[in-house]
Amino acid sequence: MNNRLETIVDLKKYPIQDLDSPLMKKLIKKCKYDLDKFSCSTIPNFILPKSLKIMNTELEQQIDEVYMSKESINPYLNSNDDASLEKDHPKRIFSKRYNGYLNSDLFGKDSEMKFLYEQEELLKFVSACIGISPIYRWADPLACHAYNIMKSNGILPWHFDSCEFTLSIMLQKPEKGGIFEYCPNIRKPGNENFEEVKKVLDGNRKKVRQLKLEPGDLQIFKGRFTLHRVTKVEGNRSRYLAIPAYVLDPWRVNTPEHSRAIYGKVLPIHHERNIKRSDGLAD
Ligand SMILES: [Fe+2]
Repeated sequence: MNNRLETIVDLKKYPIQDLDSPLMKKLIKKCKYDLDKFSCSTIPNFILPKSLKIMNTELEQQIDEVYMSKESINPYLNSNDDASLEKDHPKRIFSKRYNGYLNSDLFGKDSEMKFLYEQEELLKFVSACIGISPIYRWADPLACHAYNIMKSNGILPWHFDSCEFTLSIMLQKPEKGGIFEYCPNIRKPGNENFEEVKKVLDGNRKKVRQLKLEPGDLQIFKGRFTLHRVTKVEGNRSRYLAIPAYVLDPWRVNTPEHSRAIYGKVLPIHHERNIKRSDGLAD
């Protein structure tokens, strides 16, 4: 039994070290159903209160190293305009963004979040919930298990993630706003579905769902195929989220443009591995 893991995850309620236990079989079945139907599943109070405190402290101790960015982006997390496309194409619709990340390469060697991300138990549990094996930890050294910070007036407009599966662990809720909204499975490999994406960008709420996350809750989410956003954060308390991510391709990293716009820097690995995505989707 992994001693440190049991101080982080509520293993009594969620014994992720034993996926064949009746408790876990039942939970995995529920998560898989939610993920297939809504591209999203929530597990309440997954992280123990004491560990949550450690993660919050970790982030606050390095808050000065957070990269805050105000660059406007399109739903594909790109800030460059492509004038060859029609004027109202979703790729040409840029929205205001104000949020920040504590990049994964800045985490301490002994970091609580980094430790959790590196555990096989967590990876195998997520893989079972999604129903895909193998999945991999993300090779992107900046983005793989970042902390996300949204201060007062912070906003994250409609977008798709470049990794396939994102976990979200709510660390600290804002006083008001900062609500996660999503449109399940709106695009899939080989089909961008620009028409439906455009409708959502234009304000159509028909496909939009909201999710309420409490501190300690774990959300598993198919972010590459699901248009999503976070509404404006109101009040003085910042919204803190841990966002460890998993991918289908252990080699791929963010594009150089994406890394610069979102994480504030580009490493040699982003240039070396900048090739067309095998699923044909934009990011
Ligand atoms: Fe996202």
